[in-house]
Amino acid sequence: MPARRKPATRKKRSAPRRPNARGVRVALTVNGTRHERTVEPRVLLVDFLRNDLRLTGAHVGCDTSQCGACTVLVDGRAVKSCSMFAVQADGSDVTTIEGLAPPGRLHPLQEAFRANLGLQCGYCTPGVVLSAYALLRDNPSPTEDEIRVAISGNLCRCTGYQGIVRSVAAAAAMGHADGAEPTG
Ligand code: FES
Ligand code: FES
Repeated sequence: MPARRKPATRKKRSAPRRPNARGVRVALTVNGTRHERTVEPRVLLVDFLRNDLRLTGAHVGCDTSQCGACTVLVDGRAVKSCSMFAVQADGSDVTTIEGLAPPGRLHPLQEAFRANLGLQCGYCTPGVVLSAYALLRDNPSPTEDEIRVAISGNLCRCTGYQGIVRSVAAAAAMGHADGAEPTG
């Protein structure tokens, strides 16, 4: 009787390799300071800013990229930071609300919001202010319609927008665009 062949031993499979398990090295400048970190590719820019850099001015108000509370400037453009990965911001210049004015001071746009009741709970305010900042930099004398279009990606549950529009118009009238640049 022929000897029975030993069943072939199965090769032990190693655990599936997670792509980029050790993360990706990114370097970006935030509010004028260069940061280098290793991040998982799935980390959103807003989470990177809030959790890794402890810049909590960018808020998370939804999980559908609709509210705009997370808006920051990426290379000067107002961007919803929940709609991009931190690795996509590699090499970029990012400004958050914390970098709009020197510590302890308000940017003229923030001052206009304070003076014109452009905020209530303030949750949406960092995002609205940065969207307005980008508008006034490119268009120092916007019409009311242009202001409304510029902030249309920022939802506010409190103010009814009248105070916000008034604030942006007041900042424009003060010549905000000629004034302070972000500290970053
Ligand atoms: Fe709502 Fe980013 S958290 S748009
Ligand atoms: Fe409360 Fe805009 S001030 S959500």
